[in-house]
Amino acid sequence: MAIRLGDVAPNFTAQTSMGEINLHEYLGEGWGLLFSHPADFTPVCTTELGRTAALKGEFQKRNVKPIAVSVDPIEDHHEWIKDINETQNVEVNFPLIADNDRKVAELYDMIHPNADEKATVRTVFVIGPDKKVKLTLTYPPATGRNFMEILRVIDSLQLTAYHSVATPADWKHGEDVIISPSITDEQIPDKFPKGHKTIKPYLRTTPQPNID
Ligand code: BEZ
Repeated sequence: MAIRLGDVAPNFTAQTSMGEINLHEYLGEGWGLLFSHPADFTPVCTTELGRTAALKGEFQKRNVKPIAVSVDPIEDHHEWIKDINETQNVEVNFPLIADNDRKVAELYDMIHPNADEKATVRTVFVIGPDKKVKLTLTYPPATGRNFMEILRVIDSLQLTAYHSVATPADWKHGEDVIISPSITDEQIPDKFPKGHKTIKPYLRTTPQPNID
């Protein structure tokens, strides 16, 4: 069954390029980015894993641990990681799950048989500190993901998890945000002391609250 937003991210223990991990224990109090790839030694995946490694500092800043899934054996992962490090000029610094028995792929519905019978598609699951799924994305094998978008959406998820706001179309960290409809006009001055604009009664904006 498909995993939906708000579901507890199914837990598992798996062999990875960094040893055995239990998903929930590994994530601890942090956020997780679980993302699948069609296969080892494929070009798009090579660039995606390289990009994830290059963005290590950005993920750390957001307290997000990336974990990649590929349905190939651990020996292949170790060889492929050497290629990724060499060609993308990085050190792969996050676990790559060796899912050759497809346990994780099936648990997370990462194989979409009408797209490809055997390989996993490019799925993304952002998991919150409460272990619940906050975001799902699915890309086809031939389209590499935009990791700046993944960071952008994590910024929005983390902001909206802790403040009564929503982020508008194309929002980026630092831009004004939308005050939640659940907040009354009377509550605004206390909750949003930086000020606000009322464009329509249902469209009220305020400077991003969690930055100086
Ligand atoms: C790739 O990762 O490069 C790839 C995988 C499957 C189909 C097309 C591209």
